[in-house]
Amino acid sequence: MIGQRFSAAAETYDRHARPQLALAQSVISMLPEMYPEQILELGPGTGQLTRLLTQRFPEVPTDAVDVAEKMIEHSRVKFSKFPNINWIVGDAQTFWGGDRYPLIVSSSALHWVDDLKAACENIYELLEPGGYFALGMMLKGTLKELHETRRQIAPEKTPEITLPSYDEVKACLQKAGFHLERRQHAEEEIIYTDANAFLKAIHEQGVTGGKVSAGNAPLNRAELGQLVADYQETYPSDGGIYATYETATFLLTK
Ligand SMILES: C[S@@+](CC[C@H](N)C(=O)[O-])C[C@H]1O[C@@H](n2cnc3c(N)ncnc32)[C@H](O)[C@@H]1O
Repeated sequence: MIGQRFSAAAETYDRHARPQLALAQSVISMLPEMYPEQILELGPGTGQLTRLLTQRFPEVPTDAVDVAEKMIEHSRVKFSKFPNINWIVGDAQTFWGGDRYPLIVSSSALHWVDDLKAACENIYELLEPGGYFALGMMLKGTLKELHETRRQIAPEKTPEITLPSYDEVKACLQKAGFHLERRQHAEEEIIYTDANAFLKAIHEQGVTGGKVSAGNAPLNRAELGQLVADYQETYPSDGGIYATYETATFLLTK
């Protein structure tokens, strides 16, 4: 399901992914001075973090593992000038390619997994002792204004699952065995020209069908119209409307 949704969004994702780019930059800026022999990236999608990795660590052999087959096909073509990147269809919760890595990175991806505990445990296994895991995650407060507007319009269609909280992610990482070296927890309001542009942008990011903003049933046309009007009125900001993104970046060791 998740794989299919992101596959459908592969062509348009980059033009609408400002918060994700900022998070990927924060993941890179958290890395220590190092030049690893090999890298594992989990959930590369269209390659925003991958691009930054190619700049920071040119030519380092990189396994880029994403559960969405079409994302992998799209990025394999897009990054064809980088023969050091090995594009693999796989799941962060279970992936094992036979190697342990000195550096594992992931941005804007692991909040999607069904079982965060399984993902953290698997990544711990995949990391070399003494290696680094740099992780950027979207958290529970992301798109909270949209959740609230939606809840008021169609309470019976409220999403049952929400993104993990900062404390949940931190506890999960620590339980898996990771040591926390550095962390950053941020809440940012992003401005969009209007509510329609905002909904279009999050749809293009591939998030409207998922845990972040969709409920157990889609809104009908009238409810959608109401959502746009209410959002526009309730969350205005300079020249448009705003939406909150809550994120965390962790630097972890084994
Ligand atoms: C929002 S995109 C983020 C892409 C990119 N890392 C970035 O920073 O912009 C999330 C990606 O995570 C992938 N993903 C979701 N669950 C996954 C899982 N369990 N294992 C591997 N990839 C996963 C999706 O297919 C999608 O390509």
